[in-house]
Amino acid sequence: MNAQDNALLTAVGPGSAMGALMREYWIPACLASELEPGGAPMRLMLLGEKLVAFRTPEGTVGVMDHACPHRCASLFYGRNEPGGLRCVYHGWKYAPDGQCLEQPNVPPEHSFAPRLKAQAYPCVERNGVVWTYMGGREVPPPLTGIEATLLPEGDVRLSCSLRRCNYLQVLEGEIDTSHFGFLHGGSVAEADLDPQDLNSSSLRDRAPRYHVAETRAGSMYASYRALAGDEVYYRVAHFMLPFYTQFPDGNFEGNIVLDAAVPMDDEHTMIFTWMARSRQAGVRRLKDGSPIPGLERDEDYLPNGAGWFDRWRTVADADNDYLIDRDAQRTRSYTGLTGVQLQDQAVVESMGPISDRTKEHLAVSDHMIVVTRRMMLRALRAHGEGAPAPGVDDLAVFQQARSGAFVADAAQDWRDAYADRIAGAQNPTGVLHFDKEFLQ
Ligand code: FES
Ligand SMILES: [Fe+2]
Repeated sequence: MNAQDNALLTAVGPGSAMGALMREYWIPACLASELEPGGAPMRLMLLGEKLVAFRTPEGTVGVMDHACPHRCASLFYGRNEPGGLRCVYHGWKYAPDGQCLEQPNVPPEHSFAPRLKAQAYPCVERNGVVWTYMGGREVPPPLTGIEATLLPEGDVRLSCSLRRCNYLQVLEGEIDTSHFGFLHGGSVAEADLDPQDLNSSSLRDRAPRYHVAETRAGSMYASYRALAGDEVYYRVAHFMLPFYTQFPDGNFEGNIVLDAAVPMDDEHTMIFTWMARSRQAGVRRLKDGSPIPGLERDEDYLPNGAGWFDRWRTVADADNDYLIDRDAQRTRSYTGLTGVQLQDQAVVESMGPISDRTKEHLAVSDHMIVVTRRMMLRALRAHGEGAPAPGVDDLAVFQQARSGAFVADAAQDWRDAYADRIAGAQNPTGVLHFDKEFLQ
């Protein structure tokens, strides 16, 4: 990859090509639970823009530029009052949609409040997430229809986690399947695995082969490993524009999951994760029932602070080398790092704020990453020439993606095997389906 393409894919601020493509889509802004009615305004960095998010005492959510349009004092210090946010400098007040309601330091005959609007973005809350639309359309497109985002709040585990690096590193980490056998399970010997557990195939054969294809919404892969008899063990995963992935770790049937690598700015990312509570995760334990070393527990979080990058930080981070335990690394755990997410975090952040992809040496195991970069570059170039952003007006494009592991007959084409699995999968939201045009 050359430096120009790397810059094109990774820059997301106002005026950037990728930023313009991303702004066509609704964006997960924060968890609904982060905003209390009448509570303190929250600093929110999205796509390189400094915003504040708040919920009025009546319950309406607003997302707007943090700089007051009068003389640019920060609305972070504002008063969250009935009907809107009041700047503490001269008392100007703004409704959640940005409309200026009052200019109390101006004599009434000189007020121009009705003609003043703060830069505010439309917001919608659905199933525990606040979504915002930062694009240029007068009427925003329909809210995303990805399966996991349609699950009722009680049926899904929602979480956020900060990464101090560019979104593309985070995203590529989610579609880099062969790392599972090393970063997360490198210390496991074949003899320790339960032979009945098909998902342990990902630790039995650590060099899978891949089918990769573009889809109407992004790209997908099916990694495959031969099983005894004429069967194949597949792990299927998806990338969907602009920053979504579905990971393959879990039984396909009910594996309703989603990650969004939402760029805060070019060097910080908030990962949003949706996981159906009823899903069955992939291999986590050895045949004696003990957890895979390094996966004994999840990572711990610091309390959220008020700074731009102070939400959803892990206790272990780059400043303390992720609390790496070298003794454990020598004796039992592959990494000496504890928790799947933390292991992922350490490696993607260790590439630096924006990975220099001109230095890479990609192998056939990186096929999905190559196809995804190509797809993204093509989409952003076409968008720059006026083409619509894929899937923005056609939610069905995103409703044909499900990830997970399954076993199929070796003689069946992998695409047909995928279509069959979709037809037989749990479909609690009713939106999951498959048409041939999905795979290109
Ligand atoms: S700067 Fe906000 S009211 Fe004056
Ligand atoms: Fe991982």
